[in-house]
Amino acid sequence: MSTLMKVQGAAVHGSGGRLVEPFSFSLEAGRPFTILGETGSGKSLLAQALMGLLPDGLTASGQLFIEGQTLDLSVPGVQKPLWGRKVSILPQEPWLALDPIMAASSQVEESYRFLRNEKTNQARQSADRDLQDLGVAEAARKLPGQLSGGMAQRVAFAAARAGGARIVIADEPTKGLDIARRDEVIDLLMREVRAGGTVLVITHDLALARQMGGDLAVMLEGRIVEQGQAADVLAEPQHEYTKRLIAADPQNWEKLEAEPSTSASCVLSATGLGKTRGGKRLFADIDLAIHPGEIIGVTGPSGSGKSSLGDLLLGLLKPDTGTVRRADGISVHRYQKLYQDPPAAFPARATLKQSLADLLALHRLEEARIAPLMRRLRLGEHLLDRRPDQVSGGELQRFSLLRVLLLDPVFLFADEPTSRLDLITQQETIALLVELARERSSALLLVSHDTALIEKTCDRTISIG
Ligand SMILES: Nc1ncnc2c1ncn2[C@@H]1O[C@H](COP(=O)(O)OP(=O)(O)OP(=O)(O)O)[C@@H](O)[C@H]1O
Ligand SMILES: [Mg+2]
Repeated sequence: MSTLMKVQGAAVHGSGGRLVEPFSFSLEAGRPFTILGETGSGKSLLAQALMGLLPDGLTASGQLFIEGQTLDLSVPGVQKPLWGRKVSILPQEPWLALDPIMAASSQVEESYRFLRNEKTNQARQSADRDLQDLGVAEAARKLPGQLSGGMAQRVAFAAARAGGARIVIADEPTKGLDIARRDEVIDLLMREVRAGGTVLVITHDLALARQMGGDLAVMLEGRIVEQGQAADVLAEPQHEYTKRLIAADPQNWEKLEAEPSTSASCVLSATGLGKTRGGKRLFADIDLAIHPGEIIGVTGPSGSGKSSLGDLLLGLLKPDTGTVRRADGISVHRYQKLYQDPPAAFPARATLKQSLADLLALHRLEEARIAPLMRRLRLGEHLLDRRPDQVSGGELQRFSLLRVLLLDPVFLFADEPTSRLDLITQQETIALLVELARERSSALLLVSHDTALIEKTCDRTISIG
């Protein structure tokens, strides 16, 4: 086995101290390396430190050995020559990796032109072939904003690895994808591995970790607490945290007692809903009657129109056919949606405290409501002074939940609300959503690609696509 990259004592430091404790490991050809762990534990920062992509204000230390070179991770910019050629990164948020005003295939094409010196025509063919291989040929001429979350992710993947790098760092490559799509991504990552490259995968998805095999490390509060062969660690976890993590897999949850609504009135009803988007018929003739306190699962493959259904129900999108009726006398602000991509829900330049203050002012809400909800969401107060790009993916996802909960929704469309959370935090967050729905008699429409999660949680399920 040959070592493609060796990392010695990689650590991340912020103004308030060390965020990631020194970690050493090596990436071997043909052997995937997976990092599982708590949300906010430092997984993404570790990957960013290796690549020289840490946000402003944070610094790295440690060394990286690659192809006979030694790079000092504390020196800004030393990794630049590796980008795309030796190591490529697939970031946690595909939106941040894609240029919003450039067609999907052009973004992949650029890697072929600039990193592999292909001529324009050839690069275009290579890009189109990759997108086709990934099942997103239809995305080629579209802008990122016109793609579904899963599609954007696959485009970002194609762009990231077009430069020929043998090491791919993938930060949560399968979040929010249905099983078929997830298997495709795994297949794609494994193609790199079989071709003699390797992948460093950061994930909350146990099945992904299991399927990738290779080595596994488990991270908690900035520290690797357990490490070994993936199959061994998953079958016989040693550390208490790893044991709890595995136990929190939705497959192991107890089924919640279904509570059929006793109320005859509806918070929302729809008849004959139909929608075609981008030339594709998403659904037709959907009838729905949603009662207070009901928890309804929404399932369907990636791109089948689950998010579109939410937008129709919330009046953010017009149906082609059919009508949606909200209950009389309830403010429209109490019909809420939780965005699938948390960064889309926050102004990028404002601190979270500022965004929340704006919300309070706009809706005349009491500030005192924030702290107890933050505690229930296990969000530390120190996070309030940060901007959205200064908290972890899972922390931001819980802030977006906090925002909608402050508005006391009677109807909440929660689109993959836990896609960025570790299994333990996911279980806690779903329990909180259920509790609030029952407590406040608000209806919850829960979208998830995880069928076990839906089965264990929901009173009933709608499937589309
Ligand atoms: N720019 C920053 N400045 C200060 N702290 C930061 C910054 N970015 C992230 N952090 C903090 O560092 C910790 C680790 O963040 P990181 O994004 O690496 O977590 P993660 O393990 O990837 O979590 P998730 O699973 O939620 O994506 C978090 O507590 C986060 O709030
Ligand atoms: Mg992360």
